[in-house]
Amino acid sequence: MRIISPSLLSADFSKLEQQIKLVENLGIDRLHIDVMDGHFVPNFTFGPFILKAIRKLTNSHLETHLMMSHPDKYIDQFVDAGADTLIIHTESSSNIEKDLIKIKSQGVKCGLAIKPRTSINVLKEYLDIIDYILIMSVEPGFGGQSFIKETLNKMEDVVKIKGKKNIKIGVDGGVNVKTINSVYKTGIDITIVGSGLYKAKNIKSRYNKLLNV
Ligand code: DX5
Ligand code: ZN
Repeated sequence: MRIISPSLLSADFSKLEQQIKLVENLGIDRLHIDVMDGHFVPNFTFGPFILKAIRKLTNSHLETHLMMSHPDKYIDQFVDAGADTLIIHTESSSNIEKDLIKIKSQGVKCGLAIKPRTSINVLKEYLDIIDYILIMSVEPGFGGQSFIKETLNKMEDVVKIKGKKNIKIGVDGGVNVKTINSVYKTGIDITIVGSGLYKAKNIKSRYNKLLNV
């Protein structure tokens, strides 16, 4: 079965608990949390304080996507706040290996995200450390953007370089009923869906469509 990780960025934060239960009642047990700092990306969301509040609302696996400069300064805080997987960007970390080890040594899964125009070669030297690769299929910063088709080739290439290693591959940005099939065809494991799920009038039927289309 397809694994879909809803992005809370598109949920209604004024009724967050209800919005989380809404997808969990469909059988979903993984949520995508977007942290943006207004510097690495041109948008702000929230920091560890809100992650901690989300943690209290759910036992789902919280994959936390750090779209921020100097992630090393905040790793401990996001671990303490309850991240299950912590994802840093190759483009913003000044010492990727050090940051990954810092995350992993605290018993949290570590992930690397790459922007649409970043070469996948940067991932190669970390394949023995990482648990997760997040391929961005839009420029990070906002929900509801259009899927960049050229990233499909990159997904196929990442699946190849991963080989038999125990790493999950996620795809983030512009995944919806129109694009989801082509994404899964590449062999990746998880799709992040924000507006394509939360903005639907009937979330249950949209989720079924995403699974089966
Ligand atoms: C974009 C974020 C995504 C976003 C996806 O910078 O990293 O996780 O929420 O939203 P949709 O699915 O609407 O593109
Ligand atoms: Zn994200």
